[in-house]
Amino acid sequence: MIYLNNAATSFPKPESVIQAVTDYNRGLPFHAMRSGFSAQTKDIVSDVREKLRHLLNAERPDQIILTSGATHSLNLIIRGVLEKNDHVVTTWTEHNSVLRLLKTLEKKEFIHLSLVECDKKGLVRPERISSALRDDTKAVIVNHCSNVTGAVQDLKKIGTLISAQDAFFIVDGSQSAGHMDIDIKEAKVDAFAFTGHKGLFGMQGTGGIYIGDRITPEPLMIGGTGVKSDYLYQPPGKPSYYEAGTPNMPGIISLDAGVSFVLQEGVQAVQNKKKFLKDIVLEAFLDHPQILVYGGETKEDFDSRSAIISFNIRGFSPSDTGYILEHAFEIICRSGLHCAPLIHQALGSYPEGSVRVSFSQFNSQKDAEALISAVFKIAKGRKFQ
Ligand SMILES: Cc1ncc(COP(=O)(O)O)c(C=O)c1O
Repeated sequence: MIYLNNAATSFPKPESVIQAVTDYNRGLPFHAMRSGFSAQTKDIVSDVREKLRHLLNAERPDQIILTSGATHSLNLIIRGVLEKNDHVVTTWTEHNSVLRLLKTLEKKEFIHLSLVECDKKGLVRPERISSALRDDTKAVIVNHCSNVTGAVQDLKKIGTLISAQDAFFIVDGSQSAGHMDIDIKEAKVDAFAFTGHKGLFGMQGTGGIYIGDRITPEPLMIGGTGVKSDYLYQPPGKPSYYEAGTPNMPGIISLDAGVSFVLQEGVQAVQNKKKFLKDIVLEAFLDHPQILVYGGETKEDFDSRSAIISFNIRGFSPSDTGYILEHAFEIICRSGLHCAPLIHQALGSYPEGSVRVSFSQFNSQKDAEALISAVFKIAKGRKFQ
């Protein structure tokens, strides 16, 4: 079996992640601030915050809030910051974790929404974002790296252009954290949501959000934090203000081990390896008359992108191609709209979507070649087994 669905969730996880979770589950459960074993746990929780701070170039570890994933993080920040009649600017490249929430708030007549288009490469012109700003704009929400095309938006330029206004800059970094160098300070980002189970190699149900000091959202959930238990309100102060309830300790342990793995390997080295695999596939696909690759025409168009390729074989629906790849060739990828419906309108792949392959550093050249061979066979309409 060849797994090429790392943009959904990374597989396999590094051995160190599996070991850390196994060790945790075998031992006495410890729990930051709430048990006799807090010293050790506190260190792990502080450790992971510090590693994530380093990865994102945030100022302080307490600005890193741990959540159950990017969807949780985005709900926390969006619901926590928006007030009635606020105006919000977002883009066609967003995932449904942003789009559905904003469209729902718009339908309830709670917010006013402006959606900025991307081009057929999946890129949003920063100037278009800044010209969508109004006096009442509270937030600009941008997906850093597309989970459909791997296209990366220019955060620094967007951050600089919008900084003249008061709007908060909120970024969905689900597909960029662990995959590429990130500097939230340089890009003037106010909140950066990320997931733990993709490029950071944690377990599913992990993630977090950086919340800068310019922004104080209301908490999404209120409850026990293990501190100031005599106080009948949510004790203020990051990070515990936003972390009510028993934390997902096995998940946090996995995230700690996953982020350590990423830092040890080096984000740049990993990116280079994945680019090598992506280039092998692109070279084959872009030249093939029956294969449509979305988001670019030349290999160079994809140079600065994440290792995600969306394509279709002419004459086959994406779901048929995905099914054949999985059942005849044991290659797992994903087909459809990938929870990001609007970008497909710009790419020309709406409404059926595309077949998406996404690499991790655990994939090999052989995997890339097996994919090419399988796709070429399907395109030729050969017998599959
Ligand atoms: C761009 C993007 N945003 C948000 C999410 C949601 O992430 P999570 O699974 O951590 O909620 C995903 C995951 O598919 C994604 O690709």
